[in-house]
Amino acid sequence: MLVSLAWLTALVAGVFAILIGQRKCFPYFWKDIFFLAKVARYGIRLEIYKKTSKVVTVLDRFVQQAARIPNKPFIIYEGITYTYRDIDERSNKVAQVFEKLGTVKKGDTVALLMSNEPDFVCVWFGLNKLGCSVAFLNTNIKSKSLLHCFNCCGAKILVVGADLLGTLEDILPSLQEDSIQVWAMKKESSHPGVHTLLDKLEQSSELPIPSDRRATTSLKTPTLYIFTSGTTGLPKAAVITHLQSLKAAGGFWAFGGTRDDMVYIALPLYHSAASLIGIGGTVELGATCVLKKKFSASQFWNDCKKYNVTIFQYIGELCRYLCNQPKAEGEKDHKVRMAVGNGLRQDVWREFHRRFGEIRMCEVYGSTEGNICFMNHNGRIGAVGRSTCLYKLFFKYDLVKYDMVKDEPIRNEQGFCERVRSGETGLLVSKISTQSPFFGYAGSKQQTEKKLLRDVFVKGDMYFNTGDLMAEDEEDFISFKDRVGDTFRWKGENVATTEVTEILGLVDFIQEANVYGVEVPGNEGRAGMAAVIVRPGFEFDGKKLFDHVLRDLPSYARPLFIRIQESMEMTGTFKQQKFGLVKSGFNPSTISDPLYFLDNAEKCYVPLSGDVYDSIVNGQRKL
Ligand SMILES: *[C@@H]1O[C@H](CO)[C@@H](O)[C@H](O)[C@H]1NC(C)=O
Repeated sequence: MLVSLAWLTALVAGVFAILIGQRKCFPYFWKDIFFLAKVARYGIRLEIYKKTSKVVTVLDRFVQQAARIPNKPFIIYEGITYTYRDIDERSNKVAQVFEKLGTVKKGDTVALLMSNEPDFVCVWFGLNKLGCSVAFLNTNIKSKSLLHCFNCCGAKILVVGADLLGTLEDILPSLQEDSIQVWAMKKESSHPGVHTLLDKLEQSSELPIPSDRRATTSLKTPTLYIFTSGTTGLPKAAVITHLQSLKAAGGFWAFGGTRDDMVYIALPLYHSAASLIGIGGTVELGATCVLKKKFSASQFWNDCKKYNVTIFQYIGELCRYLCNQPKAEGEKDHKVRMAVGNGLRQDVWREFHRRFGEIRMCEVYGSTEGNICFMNHNGRIGAVGRSTCLYKLFFKYDLVKYDMVKDEPIRNEQGFCERVRSGETGLLVSKISTQSPFFGYAGSKQQTEKKLLRDVFVKGDMYFNTGDLMAEDEEDFISFKDRVGDTFRWKGENVATTEVTEILGLVDFIQEANVYGVEVPGNEGRAGMAAVIVRPGFEFDGKKLFDHVLRDLPSYARPLFIRIQESMEMTGTFKQQKFGLVKSGFNPSTISDPLYFLDNAEKCYVPLSGDVYDSIVNGQRKL
């Protein structure tokens, strides 16, 4: 969204030429111009920060709002209203506690493991007020991965929610060994060596910390670390700079949000969507949000009516769950006018409109760490945005031909990639430049390097490999098709196949495992499946495997299907062959290998019979 003034001139000059030249633009032309002008205005604000070295961060914006509208509700949580002043003062208290102890200094990183609650925001803002970066930890991840997270971001302090302290039990000794201080949001603790924060907050001063502690002169200063699944099996920490957090905070505003909006946030705050777009966007507008600990399909519309919700954040699954709810009276009787999110499929999109009325669904495409984003402000069903010539003035990206079998971009005789034609599916790559920087992953040069594609169109150029296959239609609408490579999405979380492979490899009877995702009708994303070779002399033990994945993998990463194979196919480059397995799916009537299914009721992997298969495919059995 950054735009230099020179570009803006070019944009204006180009407008009329395009107006004449591109008739196909017409139905959307003024809408596109209007939207881009808005984005450009925001971009200019960021340019000014850059030029003057005076960055007004999301936190600065929050402090301004707290001074301007102190009594305005900021967060409504479980029926209790917290005003801008409440959150400002409580975050001051958090800052004061750590300031008094002298345990953190400007530039340090502190890890935060908390469910959705107002204190998530208070601790986040409080630590930012001390000039610290905050690393959001996924509340689902298991002990081993959690330990690794501390290494990547270098955090020496962990703040943990009262309800999550129990999940740390088995790694507390390791944390202490690494001299990581653990602070629980409790008044007292029976765990030796766990500090308590709530009692100290009560006694702490609510005076603000001088603003020079948090001041920054560069948009490129990291402010957060957000973990995404890694390709080597462990999570990697995406570096979130002020630049990215400011861009995300402008999202609602760009789509037409105002201070009168009531935003509904039921997605987890440890993801960038809820924290950067949701909380950041609410702050930018000076609006109010309803924060939910967890999404509940049965409470959703009641909440929307009760709080006069006007905007909600979604992932595709959330809308599907709402459509799957039994029909009720007056379903269109609400004030919701817009939803911002990602991953909404066409069939659900249409059904959602039919059931709940003409809510504008604003699809946003962009990864936490990526340098490209699309925003569908036209409401075209199925698209993530419009890939016009105008848009290409702002962003340098291309769709290139991709070899699904070898799992890599196709290179021509000269060794370069080739663009796909309109309508064809290709890999989205985005040029890395000072206008569109990629900040990589904390503490991992190797992981960062893996996301880069070099010598794409000319020698020496460098692109960010999004790992997403997209296609543009004849009207320039761009839509998401599939993910490639070593990750897939399930239940709104990224699953790293290598992480699952490593964990499965620890089971004694498994000689080799190959993990991939398969499509299941009626579900977003892909369900995990593993092809395994049983070690000679051993037998497949469904109970043992179930217990193992239950203990060591978060629920979304557990393979739902197991396929027993005699041997494993490799690609020419000795990578495991996945493409054929993905395509053949999990239908027992077409696959001769023995298949098993993760049965949560039986607490065991059970043989996948034709009946079980039918009940999954026709939606009787919920996954
Ligand atoms: C919702 O809107 C109605 C009508 O505009 C108003 O009477 C009611 O007080 C509002 N509720 C809340 C919680 O703001």
